[in-house]
Amino acid sequence: MQVLTNKRVLLGVTGSIAAYKAADLVRRLREAGAEVRVVMTRGATEFVTPMTFQALSGKPVHLHLLDTEAEAGMGHIELARWADVILVAPASADFLARLTQGRADDLLAAVCLAGGRTPLAVAPAMNAQMWASAATQENVRLLGQRGVLRLGPDEGEQACGEVGAGRLLSAEAMILQLAQLFAPGSLSGRTVLVSAGPTREAIDPVRYLSNHSSGKMGFSIAAAAVEAGARVVLVAGPVVLPTPDRVERTDVISAMEMHDVILNQAKEADIFISTAAVADYRPALALDEKLKKDDSRLKLDLLPNPDILAAVKQQFPRLFCVGFAAETQHLADYAQQKLHKKGIDMVAANWVGPAAKATGGAFGSDENALHLFWCGGELELEQASKDKLARQLVSVIAQRYVLHERPDSDSEGNKVINIKR
Ligand SMILES: Cc1cc2nc3c(=O)[nH]c(=O)nc-3n(C[C@H](O)[C@H](O)[C@H](O)COP(=O)(O)O)c2cc1C
Repeated sequence: MQVLTNKRVLLGVTGSIAAYKAADLVRRLREAGAEVRVVMTRGATEFVTPMTFQALSGKPVHLHLLDTEAEAGMGHIELARWADVILVAPASADFLARLTQGRADDLLAAVCLAGGRTPLAVAPAMNAQMWASAATQENVRLLGQRGVLRLGPDEGEQACGEVGAGRLLSAEAMILQLAQLFAPGSLSGRTVLVSAGPTREAIDPVRYLSNHSSGKMGFSIAAAAVEAGARVVLVAGPVVLPTPDRVERTDVISAMEMHDVILNQAKEADIFISTAAVADYRPALALDEKLKKDDSRLKLDLLPNPDILAAVKQQFPRLFCVGFAAETQHLADYAQQKLHKKGIDMVAANWVGPAAKATGGAFGSDENALHLFWCGGELELEQASKDKLARQLVSVIAQRYVLHERPDSDSEGNKVINIKR
């Protein structure tokens, strides 16, 4: 199946004994529809000749960084810009160490560093002891935290005669995982429940307590989840926004109403994305008649509202739950606390109030920036339109959801994808 049609894969080959398998990988990538360019480290050329990769990719092989002719042609920055994904397969222990350190002393390392937001995937291949070493494990843990996708390694008999983890993952498994990065239907067949907007807590028939949430982020996320192939149920507080195409919307007013509707809808959901700014308190008594003004001091007796996100996670522990943390200070600390206290799967944190002014503000603004946290990892999504940010967020949620569903995912929460065939 041509799962990588029109995708540009920059394949980095390093000095592992598995380098010969990369030749077959090039062929398979092209069969899957991808355009492939190969960068080889000097170490890799000791194992396989550039000629092999040139013949299989149909393109010149890139070897040197400090070479005037090479730089004048397709230099390291251009190579990084060209790629839709950079895949280093096999990735040697040494290369993983250099990648972790942010070195740029050869062409492949420089391209990876210059890749910016281009997805970077590494497929480690090495002796089982090298793989198990504390240094390599620490390196891959750090790379995972930085959002580097790790493919494998597989377990089994090794070239050196040992048996254990360190074999290069199969080409088919790598291609399937790369395809998932681009899959437009990455949430197809899933039901995503989204809450959005503020809630209003009635004081009397004409007055209420509320907040400045516009609901835009939640509505953009609902639209992005539809784009990603999901059935989307949106539970919205009082907002003035049109319903995104193909989204099933239920409107609510108060936190208690939102609580009941969401707990009911959660039964059918696979993923819950809680963007609503639910009021923490409600008046203990909502008056039936309008409160008359007089000159005396007025005290409002407030009751805490239920924590909807925590209640959902408690009742439906298998549901993948994403919370939002809007903070005016200590963003990372508060987000991490929320993650652990509520036992949820991901927190998307953003600044609000005066702190948000510098970045364009969250409430009501069309732009935002998000800092995502999950157990053992984090990712910053730069300032962008809420629509663009929503697509990026949904894509990260889809990737993390796959790991959540698959029991053999890494306990560190790294993006480890191990398909055994
Ligand atoms: C015969 C031989 C096989 C090797 N196989 C591997 C391997 O499978 N994985 C690995 O990480 N290093 C392996 N090495 C060590 C790397 O080639 C070495 O660390 C080299 O510096 C890697 O450079 P590069 O990552 O820039 O290509 C091997 C070395 C030799 C001599």
